[in-house]
Amino acid sequence: MKRTLKVLRYDRSGKCSYWQSFVYGTENEHETIATALKELNRRDNLTDAEGNRALPIKWECSCLQKKCGACAMLINNTPALACDTKLNDDDRKVIELAPLEKFPVVEDLIVDRSVIFDNLKKL
Ligand code: FES
Repeated sequence: MKRTLKVLRYDRSGKCSYWQSFVYGTENEHETIATALKELNRRDNLTDAEGNRALPIKWECSCLQKKCGACAMLINNTPALACDTKLNDDDRKVIELAPLEKFPVVEDLIVDRSVIFDNLKKL
């Protein structure tokens, strides 16, 4: 199974966002987005779909068991957990990954969720 992961990247130095696509293939049709991101970042020479060198994709994960919310992101424009979304959840060949919209972007798919924790402390 082959999918294209189209990732909204954030260039901190230029303070701008841009889309970058990565081709990802796997034999495991039930693999999650989280596993795909880990495998892409594990590559020694990560290249994008056009063959250009790419920096590792910045994203967060912790439990990988749908408990902590660290891997929350927009998957095809819908908030979802990367560790709970499978590559074959729908028939799309291109899967768009973007940071959650309601929080400041730190890097790529990482957002600053400290406002949540601050509000929880107040409660
Ligand atoms: S890594 Fe904890 S919910 Fe996905």
